[in-house]
Amino acid sequence: MEENRVIIFDTTLRDGEQVPGCQLNTVEKIEVARALEALGVDVIEAGFPVSSPGDFNSVVEISKAVRNPVICALTRAVKKDIEVAAEALKYAERKRIHTGIGTSPYHIQYKIKTTPEEIIRRAVDAVKYARKFVDDVEFYAEDAGRSDNAYLARVIEAVIKAGATVVNIPDTTGYCLPEEYGAKIRYLVDNVPNIDQAVISTHCHNDLGMATANTMMGIINGARQAEVTINGIGERAGNTSLEEVAMIIKSHHDLNLSTGINPKLIFSTSRLVSTLMSMPVQANKAIVGRNAFAHSSGIHQDGVLKNRENYEIIDPKEVGIRESSIILTARSGRAALNHRLDLLGIKLGKEELDEIYHRFLILADKKKEINDEDIKILSGEVFRGEKRLKLESLQVLCGNSVTPVATVGVRINGEVHTSTAPGNGPIDAALTAVKHLIHENVHLEEFLIQAITRGSDDIGKVHIQVEHEGKIFYGFSANTDIITASVEAFIDAVSRIDNGTTDTV
Ligand code: KIV
Ligand code: ZN
Repeated sequence: MEENRVIIFDTTLRDGEQVPGCQLNTVEKIEVARALEALGVDVIEAGFPVSSPGDFNSVVEISKAVRNPVICALTRAVKKDIEVAAEALKYAERKRIHTGIGTSPYHIQYKIKTTPEEIIRRAVDAVKYARKFVDDVEFYAEDAGRSDNAYLARVIEAVIKAGATVVNIPDTTGYCLPEEYGAKIRYLVDNVPNIDQAVISTHCHNDLGMATANTMMGIINGARQAEVTINGIGERAGNTSLEEVAMIIKSHHDLNLSTGINPKLIFSTSRLVSTLMSMPVQANKAIVGRNAFAHSSGIHQDGVLKNRENYEIIDPKEVGIRESSIILTARSGRAALNHRLDLLGIKLGKEELDEIYHRFLILADKKKEINDEDIKILSGEVFRGEKRLKLESLQVLCGNSVTPVATVGVRINGEVHTSTAPGNGPIDAALTAVKHLIHENVHLEEFLIQAITRGSDDIGKVHIQVEHEGKIFYGFSANTDIITASVEAFIDAVSRIDNGTTDTV
């Protein structure tokens, strides 16, 4: 392996799977393991075989299903664990036993209740025993983050002498500062005489949100394996995320490092793990979050449209995301709206764009996000041009203890007329008030309200059919206020009576 190649050790199926509610069955684990293999991870930690028959079986089946990555099984520094792990790895083409013990004062004194010298003896025995079964043995010094560096160096020297090929320096509690963790790795590089005979591995937890920073500082200071999980899932606040480390290394050419990860498969692998583990990815999660490539402020949108790199350091296509998204909100400018219209195949002149933009802002103030359907509706309204009849104002009184009453103001041939009427509901009251004004003999034949997408802040589309002297006229409108949409749709249909259009909108 080249000196600057960072080995990606994925523990989604072990440390990641320890998260309550994220347990996978063997078939699902195989699916994830295959995806990790395709993604290009070097080592898959497939489970902790002695912990349960299910875990044992998963390690066996993953060993059979996956051929390229090294398959790793976790153990404590206990003979029985090591024997069971070796048995579970029987079918693996390339296998590793990952054994270890706590080395911090907390673990030595309160968890294991022993002495530092006894810990070294048990660590050495475990590594030697594991080497009887496999050539590749990784040793973890649990809670190395809070272990004394001089003592840790003695443990690491002893386990390498006993045959460890990889030495894992976990920041088990996620306590270290990036500089502190980097200095710890540097200390081992400088003070463990046989360190060149093993690969140093990082394993950082995210309790203080520093897992990725710590991992990078470990690598910069000499570690050449990073233990990571997809989407950063794992115990408590999680582990270092694979996608973050892989993309930092890929983006920062100045580090002169590489991994075997195929970034194009990052997004699909993220979603596979999220779906199978029922663990949604936080929207602002780096690289794979829903908003990781979404721009919503007008200034950023304009900048991205001029040149993506103004506000993006990674091309979303690189990580398997189709494109950056320009989220249309009340903060979006004309440039973003025009871009979306363009994508929808709607070409507009400056005046038309100004008119749609004006309507867009009114709608965007009522609705958090404007979608394509909204845009089509808005542009349709502009194309329809000025109407003979136009709703100018609407006021409705309704509720469960009053008779609904509506007052409408309708511009008819340039002049606003108002009318008030009761009804059996707010829509009935509003339509009756309009009927009083237009003096037309119209019957409502069909009335359909539809929500376009999901939320309660969505716009409702209203389709109406009215009958006048044996002919059918159609009307349509859309608004976040369904009563307004209903009245507008009714007026739209009635307007067609005069010009005789009976076609649908
Ligand atoms: O966080 C940790 O210390 C671990 C070890 C078992 C490697 O997960
Ligand atoms: Zn861990």
